[in-house]
Amino acid sequence: MTRPRVFISRAIPSVGIDLLKQHFDVEVWLENKPPQREIVLKKIAGCAGVLTLLSDQVNEEFLQAAGESLKVVSNFAVGYNNIDCSAAAARGVRVGNTPDVLTDATADMAMCLMLAAARHLQAGIDSVRNGGWLSWEPLGYMGIDLKGKTLGIVGAGRIGAALAQRCYGGWGMNVQYTSRSEKPSWNDQFAARRCEFQELLETSDVVSVHCDLNPSTVRLFNEQAFSQMKSGAVFVNTSRGGVVDQDALVTALQNGKLLAAGLDVTDPEPLSPSHPLVGLPNCVIAPHIGSATHEARNAMSRIAAENILLAIQDKAMTAEVFPNK
Ligand code: GLV
Repeated sequence: MTRPRVFISRAIPSVGIDLLKQHFDVEVWLENKPPQREIVLKKIAGCAGVLTLLSDQVNEEFLQAAGESLKVVSNFAVGYNNIDCSAAAARGVRVGNTPDVLTDATADMAMCLMLAAARHLQAGIDSVRNGGWLSWEPLGYMGIDLKGKTLGIVGAGRIGAALAQRCYGGWGMNVQYTSRSEKPSWNDQFAARRCEFQELLETSDVVSVHCDLNPSTVRLFNEQAFSQMKSGAVFVNTSRGGVVDQDALVTALQNGKLLAAGLDVTDPEPLSPSHPLVGLPNCVIAPHIGSATHEARNAMSRIAAENILLAIQDKAMTAEVFPNK
C-alpha cells in the first residue's frame, strides 16, 4: 500500500523528520535556501501534509497546487501570518503551529536585544573589530541602566509574560502592557498595569513588541508612534518586521529620539546589508533567531511532526490553529 506523502520545506531537527518517516513517504528540502515557489508548488502536489516555514506563503495558489489530498499544513513556528487560515479552512485543511515551546527562548532573545541596545553593544563590538578601540573611554558608549525603569509590552501573550517575569523579577522594572482585556495574572505576578497604546509609548523607557502581525498591527510603529515615545527610549522587536515602519525607525534612531533599537525581525527577511538600519551604530539586528536554541527547535520539530501525524489520522492535533476562536 502506498503511504501518504509529506513534504518538509527545509531541514529541521531530526526528531520530527524521524517521526514522520515512520508513517509517511517523506521528502525534505535539504538545500540551505528555501525552495523557489515553483518548486514548492510541484513538490506539494498530492501530499497529505506539508511542514512549512514562515517563508512559505500558504494561500489559494498553494492549496490548489497541493490538491484534494492535502489534510494539514503544519507551520514550524508559533506565528502563522504566512498562512491564509480561512482559505485552508474552506478546503477542510487543518493548520498547526508550535506554541509554548519557544516562549522562553524568544523572551531570552528580547532580553538580549534589550540589554545590547541599552548598552550600545553593537557599536562597542564594531569598534573592537574595526580598530576603533583606542583607549578606555570615560565618555564612550554610555547607555542606560534598566533597573527601576519602565518596560512597556505591546501584545501581552505568552512571550510578553515571560519577558515581564524576567524584567520584573530580575531588574525590578515596572511593567505595563497593552491588551484587549485586563490580565489579572499580570498584575499578581509582575505588578503590571494595563494601559492604552499611546500612554504606553509616552511613559515607557523600553518598549518591547510581542503582538501578532495582522491587519490591525501592520506598521503600528510608524512616525507618529515613534514621535510619541519617550526621548531616549529603547525599542525592541522580536515579533514580526511588518509591525514597524522601518523608514520611521531609521529616522527616530538617526535624530536621537530613540537611544537604540534591538530587532530580531525585519521586513523583508533577510534585510539587505545595504539597508540604512544595518549601518546604524545604535541598532542591533539579529537574523530572526528568537527560537534558535536546541531545546526550542527540537520541541518545535516534534510538535510540527505530531501535528501532521495526528491530523492525517483525523485526531486532535498537539497544537491546532483556530484563528477565529
Ligand atoms: C517565529 O517567529 C515564530 O513565529 O515561531
